[in-house]
Amino acid sequence: MALGWAIIGAGMHPHQKLAPAIGLTPDAELIAVLSRDQGRADAFAETHGAKAGYSNIDDLLADSRIDAVFVASPNASHLGHTVQTAKAGKHVLSEKPMATSVDDALTMVQVCQANGVKLGLGFELRFHPAHLLARDLVSKGRLGRVRLLQGHWGRGERGEPEHKPRSGLRSWWEDPEAMGGGSVIMGLGVHVFDLVRFVMDQEILEVTAMTDGQTDGQPLEHIASMSLRLDDGTIANVSCGRMLPDTLNNFTIYGTDGRFTGTATVWEARMGSVEVVSETVNQTESFEYDYLANFVAELTDFHSALKVDREPAATGLDGLRSTEINSAVIQSAKSGRVVKIGRRYP
Ligand SMILES: NC(=O)c1ccc[n+]([C@@H]2O[C@H](COP(=O)([O-])OP(=O)(O)OC[C@H]3O[C@@H](n4cnc5c(N)ncnc54)[C@H](OP(=O)(O)O)[C@@H]3O)[C@@H](O)[C@H]2O)c1
Repeated sequence: MALGWAIIGAGMHPHQKLAPAIGLTPDAELIAVLSRDQGRADAFAETHGAKAGYSNIDDLLADSRIDAVFVASPNASHLGHTVQTAKAGKHVLSEKPMATSVDDALTMVQVCQANGVKLGLGFELRFHPAHLLARDLVSKGRLGRVRLLQGHWGRGERGEPEHKPRSGLRSWWEDPEAMGGGSVIMGLGVHVFDLVRFVMDQEILEVTAMTDGQTDGQPLEHIASMSLRLDDGTIANVSCGRMLPDTLNNFTIYGTDGRFTGTATVWEARMGSVEVVSETVNQTESFEYDYLANFVAELTDFHSALKVDREPAATGLDGLRSTEINSAVIQSAKSGRVVKIGRRYP
């Protein structure tokens, strides 16, 4: 029987990616969507062939056709939506950033555990074949000892020298509280932090950050440059920003025996190419542009996790660790100091 999905959130991300990806995932069925407005919920349901639109979360969670909920509401709402979903006994796949504070992320993990439901995170970069190859190369020592990683996620349109604030239903992106104190860090950087952890299979020890925000005059940043020190001492340079129309979005790993380069792989769509030069592996590969492939793979992984009762590829704990990094990075940008990550345990 197909797995019944609901999406909490009827914004741009569910419209452009999540609902179409559910439609392409084997054995998945989009049952319902939640908006604050019944008309918008109905319109979304009709556009995407969902069985129902709801404007009341209790009504949505009472729908017995729903097995799992994709929480894709504004960042500060992920906590409440996840807690309610878990208490209703339904599994949760939460969008990034998991939460706007470490306390909230910890609560999300604890409540899902206490209610016996799975909690996964929407880190689609983990499903790009280039990044799976990078993880494999690192784990087998094919690049020698990794000394440096560089990852970048930018975006922008030419002819926009100033940040164009989002408005209307999307104006929460300009609200420091709703965003969690970071803008491109929460939107883009968080993906690269997770990618570094995933590829290296290690935690981050400490961070330092420089941004054009995190000040009284400009609370939210548009550009951020961060250095992360991993547990074994390896350093990762991560940058992200908007107003970067000709951005490269590359991911490079420098080891003592070789180099991995993902060109334009750091993006929602599966695309770009990979080059490996090393003592033992020399290969190149290009990926045909596929807007939804990483999301379909993420959903397929979540289905499999439910089926065989294992953790999804990106777990609640991964979400908690990434939230700790977000929080440390924002603190470092404010203080100008190196910030050690304080790890919390559910
Ligand atoms: N994994 C990825 O690559 C990726 C990509 C993009 C976004 N995301 C994440 O997905 C989530 C949703 O992003 P989005 O781009 O879909 O956002 P969005 O287009 O701005 O839509 C969010 C929706 O939430 C509702 N809303 C607006 N302001 C609100 C408020 N103050 N309180 C509660 N609800 C409010 C509105 O719908 P109604 O009024 O109809 O309820 C709005 O359409 C975010 O957490 C974002 O970080 C992830």
